[in-house]
Amino acid sequence: MVYKSLKRKQRKNPNSQEIGLRIANIFGRYFLKTEHLHYGYWPGDLPVTLENLPKAQDLYAEFLRSNIPEGVSSILDIGCGTGHNAEVLLKSGYQVDCVSPSPYLSGIVREKLEGRGTLYECTFETIPAGKKYDCLLFSESFQYIDLDTVFARMPEFLNPGGSVIICDFFRIPGAGTSAMGGGHRLSRFREKLDASSFTLCREVDITENTAPNLQLVNEALQQVAVPIRDLVIDELSSRHRWIWLPGKWIGRLFWSRKLDKLDYKYFSGSRNAENFKAHKRYCLFVLKEKGNRIPESAAITPPAEPDGAAS
Ligand SMILES: C[S@@+](CC[C@H](N)C(=O)[O-])C[C@H]1O[C@@H](n2cnc3c(N)ncnc32)[C@H](O)[C@@H]1O
Repeated sequence: MVYKSLKRKQRKNPNSQEIGLRIANIFGRYFLKTEHLHYGYWPGDLPVTLENLPKAQDLYAEFLRSNIPEGVSSILDIGCGTGHNAEVLLKSGYQVDCVSPSPYLSGIVREKLEGRGTLYECTFETIPAGKKYDCLLFSESFQYIDLDTVFARMPEFLNPGGSVIICDFFRIPGAGTSAMGGGHRLSRFREKLDASSFTLCREVDITENTAPNLQLVNEALQQVAVPIRDLVIDELSSRHRWIWLPGKWIGRLFWSRKLDKLDYKYFSGSRNAENFKAHKRYCLFVLKEKGNRIPESAAITPPAEPDGAAS
């Protein structure tokens, strides 16, 4: 593999995105034996349990693979995470290069791909134009890419007639406050797409199949994080009575708004599948450059469920 460190900022202090991805990877690798960093694809008949998460994540990789248009042979996996999707695609016979701005994840990708393809160690926004591909893949990475530049940059990496696959969640206006951040506004994405040189060939809403991941997150928060938090506060307040004011611990005097926000986001039980469905849409979009649109008859037929859906 050719390793290209391009204009990457030296990150002495990893930012919160990097820390979040590291935690997800460490937790997933140790407890679940999974390398994936995405929500997974939950068919209706797959019980939503932690043990089934790796299975759901394999089904998501299969869902992505089944949506790659015919005729594609080279793919640029942008924001490749641990390189797991890339490995699945390589095994299916595609030629795959990867983009990874995360020094930590890049190390894992290098080990996993063992010299197959090029790893660009930079953001999508900073890859130098040069090599072109039949397909650009953004799997749960599009939300991190600058929406003002992405459509202008994509043609620099696409062969004529090439496709772009975006599979990610977007924000929609919903009742109440969302406990989950992240995602571009869907209406803004559509505006930018309309104004771009790309056209939408295919759209599949998989919100129902991805939201169950939040049920697991909520269960883990309620059954692990909340009891640990309460235990720590109880222990501290019994040993150091001075931190405990009537009805609240002293930290609330200084960081009341921050702590309220943390409570709401992580400990109130609102980070759940219903809240996700109320505020997000998780969609797969297949785009082509205008003038290169595949005829409707040749468009990929929607897979109801990826191959090998749960039994
Ligand atoms: C949630 S992970 C998804 C990983 C993988 N695509 C998957 O489906 O499992 C988000 C990925 O986007 C990458 N990323 C974040 N900002 C990026 C940017 N500006 N350009 C390219 N990749 C980016 C992260 O390093 C990480 O690999």
